[in-house]
Amino acid sequence: MSQNIVKQDYKVKRSDREKLANQRGMVIWFTGLSGSGKSTMANLLESELYKKAKRTYVLDGDNLRFGLNQDLGFNEKDRKENLRRIAEVAKLFVDAGIIVLAAFITPFEEDRKKIKEIIGEENFVHIYVNCPLEICEQRDVKGLYAKARAGEIKDFTGINSPFEEPQNNDLIIHSHIESQEESLGKLLQLIESKIN
Ligand code: ADX
Repeated sequence: MSQNIVKQDYKVKRSDREKLANQRGMVIWFTGLSGSGKSTMANLLESELYKKAKRTYVLDGDNLRFGLNQDLGFNEKDRKENLRRIAEVAKLFVDAGIIVLAAFITPFEEDRKKIKEIIGEENFVHIYVNCPLEICEQRDVKGLYAKARAGEIKDFTGINSPFEEPQNNDLIIHSHIESQEESLGKLLQLIESKIN
């Protein structure tokens, strides 16, 4: 970090923006294997919050890698940087008073801890979308597991790159057992008091 930088104060504060939007800024972070249902749940939840007139934004792994993080790949170092940048972006959204739904594999416990530190525990909810690898692989919505098994993708999470079991979860969604409505109900109940 450069030494010659000075923090500037803004006149309009987070609390002012939150008051205007009638909500609290918050990050709801979905962790899980590719194909586990993170994006699906983030989208479902966003639609529900939209109906309740809440200001939201989805940050999604695939999409962010088309722009902000297009220079990053999937080795451990790049994933770390990918997630650090996203956490910083999410933090800005929180300051803007927005409810962020972040869907990233987030395979390493160390990065999950760091993300929480950057965003601040009081602004952060961690959801583990727990779906067995065999099922994600069966679903293979994007055809990536087949490619990874064929050796066409290296460092693919679950195949030739690890996914550490998340230890600190505010909620675990078993996307292969529960219905989407059931999971959505649990999510809404969990965040109700945090976003209002
Ligand atoms: S993370 O590990 O850094 O959190 P992120 O969520 O941004 O990953 O991106 C994951 C998405 O990128 C997957 O859903 C998949 O579509 C795509 N992808 C492409 N290559 C890989 C890979 N080697 N490992 C995992 N996902 C990959």
